[in-house]
This record gives sequence, structure tokens and C-alpha cells, in this order.
Amino acid sequence: MQHVLLTGAGQVGAQMIKLLHQHYGVTPVVMDIQFNWEYLDTLVERDWFIPVEGSILDTELVEETLRKYQIRHISHSAAVLPMRVGHDPHPGFFEVNVHGTAGVIFAALRQGVENFVMFSTNGVYQFREHGVSGPVNEDYPTGLSVHNSYGNSKATVEYLLKELTLAGRINGRVLRPGEIYGPVFSRPGDTEIYWKSMFDAAIQGRPFTLEGHPEHRLDWVYGKDVAQAATTLLMSDEVPGFAYNVTYGQCMGIYDIKDALDKLYPGNEVVLKDCSRGGWNYPLDNGRLKKELGVVPAYDLEAGIKDYAAWLNSLESK
Ligand SMILES: NC(=O)c1ccc[n+]([C@@H]2O[C@H](COP(=O)([O-])OP(=O)(O)OC[C@H]3O[C@@H](n4cnc5c(N)ncnc54)[C@H](O)[C@@H]3O)[C@@H](O)[C@H]2O)c1
Repeated sequence: MQHVLLTGAGQVGAQMIKLLHQHYGVTPVVMDIQFNWEYLDTLVERDWFIPVEGSILDTELVEETLRKYQIRHISHSAAVLPMRVGHDPHPGFFEVNVHGTAGVIFAALRQGVENFVMFSTNGVYQFREHGVSGPVNEDYPTGLSVHNSYGNSKATVEYLLKELTLAGRINGRVLRPGEIYGPVFSRPGDTEIYWKSMFDAAIQGRPFTLEGHPEHRLDWVYGKDVAQAATTLLMSDEVPGFAYNVTYGQCMGIYDIKDALDKLYPGNEVVLKDCSRGGWNYPLDNGRLKKELGVVPAYDLEAGIKDYAAWLNSLESK
């Protein structure tokens, strides 16, 4: 099957191109505002996808792309992320993640797209408002929360997609990943990706001190596992649920990363200095994805770090 559009050729989009090529024989159309070829060339071949460079805010370009390639399935990962711009309110959260996403959804309706997979976040859950006393499944309340501009941007469009799905106008599917890590690029002006700095230093035998960073304990997941889940949602005709968590189903943070690095790279010079402890007490419940779609994360933290290291080391030989 062809007629697939991926928005976003970033950390997850790149892995989806690879999966679609290798396991489904599909050459997707991929839209991104700025293709990072130096990065993409380390993960995929250029003839595995059809690039369309431009913004999802360009409605004419989106519509023309949907028409030209007779797109029937969309995976929408293009977004502005805290990983790149920080957690403080950022105009991109609402301009791209809400206005841009709504534009892609309505263009999809006009062009008869069948399946629409939207990347959301665990940040849509209203933990502060409702409290947490056990693993959080997909039925836990979602909505707007204070001090959560990024999560609010995703929650807003989740509701839009849900309404249109309930009305029978499109098959909307939502993925709520935990903190994603894996082969990734940085652009000038991006905030430092702290876990990447820790990994790279340990793998390359360089000193690195993470200073004053909160433990940030929450539920994580490797990028390839997210891509696997998203590709399954995208390519399945029947999907029973609307939203799916994709996570390890356990909490971890920088101290667990440090322990894993110590085990894999004894004597490494990664140091945590004045990093306060804290974060979630309960993970997300990742059982629905397994039960309904048979998707289980294949990479635990150590396997993820090893896979990341293989990619990082491959860069040196390029
Ligand atoms: N990375 C995480 O930890 C994490 C966690 C939870 C959810 N998510 C969600 O998962 C999805 C994938 O994340 P990722 O890690 O691959 O992010 P990423 O930043 O690596 O990739 C996002 C891509 O979107 C593109 N993009 C941004 N604005 C655009 C625009 N206006 N038009 C077209 N393209 C645009 C960027 O150029 C980038 O290549 C995102 O929707 C994100 O919100 C990510």
C-alpha cells in the first residue's frame, strides 16, 4: 500500500521511514519544514521516501501534497517540542501544535484521508488536578492544566480529532509517548538534550557534569519502539481504541540512566552534581497497546543505550 504521508522527519519520523520501507514496502511522502539531511543520511536511504519541504502551516502545500499523492493515511509527528525549545510557554506550541495540526486534520477531511495518527504526549493527563494512586491508563482524565503549555497544545487537538472520529469523519488514533530517547539531531538554538549529553560523553569516554538538573523521573521509551507503535496504528485497518500509551510502564530518571551507563561503561566520567530527586511515583499503564495491537517495547534502557551507541559510533566511520 502506498499513499502514506508522514509529517515530521525527526527522531521518530526517521525511524518510521525505515520501518515502512523495510517491513511494509512503502515509500512514504514526508513533509518537514527543514530536512536535516546530515542526520537522515545516518538512518535512512534517500530513495526510501519522497521529501516535501515546507511547513504544515502552509495549507495550500498540505492540500496539494494530499491531492498529488492521493494520501489515505497520515502520521502526524511534526511539532514544536520542549526537548528543543524548553518547557516554558512557547508560541510554537500553539501555532504549530494546535493551529498547524488542526489545518492538517481539516485538509485530511477535505481530501478523504482515512487514518490519521496523531502524536500526543503523556502531558495531556491532568495529574495535578486528579492525583495519581496507581499506573495511569488511557481512560485517566485528560485536559488543560496549569503550567503545561506544551501538554495543553496536544490536549486541545486531541479533543478535535476525537470529536471528528466520533462523528465518523476520519479514523483518528492518538499515541501518548513517554519521554522519547534515541538517535536524534540538534539544531542551532535548540536547548541542550541532557540525556544525549550524558550518553555521548559516556560512550565517547569524555567527562560531562550535569549540574542542578532535576531527576525528572517519569516513564520513558526508546524511539524505535515509538515508531513501531505508530507504524502499527497507521497501517492497521481496525484499531479498537482511540488513544494508546507507549512507554516502558515503569518510572526512571537521570539517576537510573547514570546507573545504566556505569554498568555499560565502567569508569565513565559522567557526573550528576546537585541534581534534586523527584518525579512521578507511578508509571503509565502500557497494557492496552499490547493487548489490542500486540505491540510491546523491544528496547529496555540498556538495550536502548546500546542501540544508540551503535548509531553514534557509526557516525565516526562516515
Ligand atoms: N521527543 C519526546 O520526548 C516526545 C515525547 C512525547 C511526545 N512527543 C511527540 O512525538 C512527536 C515526534 O517527536 P520527535 O522526538 O520525533 O521530535 P523531533 O523534534 O525530532 O521531530 C519533529 C519534526 O517536526 C518538524 N517540524 C516542526 N515544525 C514544523 C512545521 N511547522 N512544519 C513541518 N515540520 C515541522 C521538525 O523540523 C522536526 O524534524 C512529536 O509530535 C512530539 O510532540 C515527543
